[in-house]
Amino acid sequence: DRSIKIAPSILSADFANFGEEIRAIEAQGADWVHVDVMDGHFVPNLTFGPPAVKAFRPHVSTFMDVHLMIAPVDPYIEAYAEAGADMITAHVEAGPHIHRTLQAIKATGKMAGVSLNPGTPLDSIEHVLDLVDMVLIMTVNPGFGGQKFIHSGVEKTRRLRAMIGDRPIHIQIDGGVTTETAPLVAAAGADVLVAGSAVFKGGSVDAPSVYGDNIRAL
Ligand code: DX5
Ligand code: ZN
Repeated sequence: DRSIKIAPSILSADFANFGEEIRAIEAQGADWVHVDVMDGHFVPNLTFGPPAVKAFRPHVSTFMDVHLMIAPVDPYIEAYAEAGADMITAHVEAGPHIHRTLQAIKATGKMAGVSLNPGTPLDSIEHVLDLVDMVLIMTVNPGFGGQKFIHSGVEKTRRLRAMIGDRPIHIQIDGGVTTETAPLVAAAGADVLVAGSAVFKGGSVDAPSVYGDNIRAL
């Protein structure tokens, strides 16, 4: 299914109110829920351990997409799988054995994604494409929401789409997705768009229709 999916990043939600925020974005049309896991080491910010992800799980009725921005990855795969992730995405830059990491994710029975930072070339994932359900192209340097879209990701997406051919692999874009940049990456072949600020801006659990307007605008 190549229709465009919107995956709001709860990094831009009210941190005191995740359950309600998740239910609000889903009611307003979110296709997936994107959870940004940061370790203060691979990226300069800290977010959600496995117990937090486990607490989100009962509120998610769509699909929980867990983006691990952590190094090392392997010691935590089982814990995030048990916490209820539907898909676990690891960064190719996070360690020397991305193939082993992706095998370990698949062994949990979850879907597997591989992510590339803006400075990382596509050929770094050439030999793991047959192991993944999704490739995540970062269009900001990971760590924070609200950053400016890095445009080289558009051409990278086009080349990745060609590289994937007819394999059933999603292309996800994360970082700086707005109503200006979403059409560019969608035209280049992306089918899952992560958006934090562009979904949550102006809305709240008390004014959830703004989330719906933002999602439809994307
Ligand atoms: C960045 C995260 C993103 C981020 C996107 O490290 O992976 O998911 O929250 O936020 P926006 O959409 O605001 O750029
Ligand atoms: Zn993310």
